[in-house]
Amino acid sequence: MFGSPTMRVGPVVVDPPVLLAPMAAVTDLPFRTVAEEHGVGLTITEFLSAHALSVGDPRTLGKLTASLGDRAFGVQIFGREEEPMARAARIAIEIGASLVDINMGCPAKRVVAGECGSALMREPAIAQRLVEAVVAAVPAHVPVTVKHRAGWDQAHRNAPEFACALVEAGARMITVHGRTRTQGFSGHSDLEIIKLVREAVPASIPVVGNGDVVDVAGYARMRAETGCDAVMIGRGALGNPWLFARCAAVAAGHPDPGPPTLEERLAVFRRHVALIHQLKTGPRVLHEVRKACAWYARGLYGCNRLRLEVWAAPDPAAAATLAERYFEGLIERRTRLGLSPQADRTEMNGAADAASEAA
Ligand SMILES: Cc1cc2nc3c(=O)[nH]c(=O)nc-3n(C[C@H](O)[C@H](O)[C@H](O)COP(=O)(O)O)c2cc1C
Repeated sequence: MFGSPTMRVGPVVVDPPVLLAPMAAVTDLPFRTVAEEHGVGLTITEFLSAHALSVGDPRTLGKLTASLGDRAFGVQIFGREEEPMARAARIAIEIGASLVDINMGCPAKRVVAGECGSALMREPAIAQRLVEAVVAAVPAHVPVTVKHRAGWDQAHRNAPEFACALVEAGARMITVHGRTRTQGFSGHSDLEIIKLVREAVPASIPVVGNGDVVDVAGYARMRAETGCDAVMIGRGALGNPWLFARCAAVAAGHPDPGPPTLEERLAVFRRHVALIHQLKTGPRVLHEVRKACAWYARGLYGCNRLRLEVWAAPDPAAAATLAERYFEGLIERRTRLGLSPQADRTEMNGAADAASEAA
């Protein structure tokens, strides 16, 4: 439907052309694994401080995790000094990263104050040197890629020139979130600037469009209106890994399989919780289980009440039980209403539920 259903970044094949966005404190290994099990083309770790990695900070090293089952994955690093960036990239390669992505888009004050993240969009020469240093640090077959924004602010929307400068320095994939730094997460992601980046960058370098894609229609619009080679999805994937399979179907020219049934939702919620128990320890387990409960119930009837109850739950088992009972209650309710599981597959059903709760 949109040309080749496969995207290549050097030797890395991204099939289907849909990526999970790096999200700090969200896209940990359980989250990435669930996304992979639902057909995402590639996952990338949350951004990791190059300085912290290079000095062996245990908390940061703990977030540097290879995908399970030898699947390809990317590691995202941030910083502004060449030597720590090079060292961090080598550490990423040691754990098997298929590509190293450099964050030049983070708008957070603590990151920008250190002149990292999106602040680098104001200093293309330094950004280029960082790319060159990381390219030189990793084996030639490992692509170095960059994720950045539309620009610093409305008056400095330099994404097309910036992307070209990075490609000249050796970047082999560019991801653009179509907001400026000063926008943060307000307004909307501008498809036009992503299109301009796609037009400016050589055709051999894939451009990934990012921002506000929460459904199949948004995926199709991003690809059609920008000409981008793939789409990266962040917030729309919270408790919604099915979005990847749905985009994959559409990318391959097949019909959209639709949203999951409540039974499917419950099964994947259980899988996510099992992965949290398998891969995490300590107080993080309760925190992550609470988040998973809220994500998988998002938009469904009674989800706000469940979220409050789960936040008060004393331990992970109690939180998970609340969510299980919640889903079972919704299944009973559906039966009472005389609806079949197939009714869950219509978007309208979930939307109507959320609206009736808000009312
Ligand atoms: C909680 C959160 C954490 C994020 N952390 C990162 C990060 O570590 N690295 C990064 O490049 N972008 C990060 N982002 C930005 C996302 O990758 C993405 O660019 C942005 O959310 C827009 O895409 P979306 O509308 O699909 O969510 C984060 C976004 C959110 C909401």
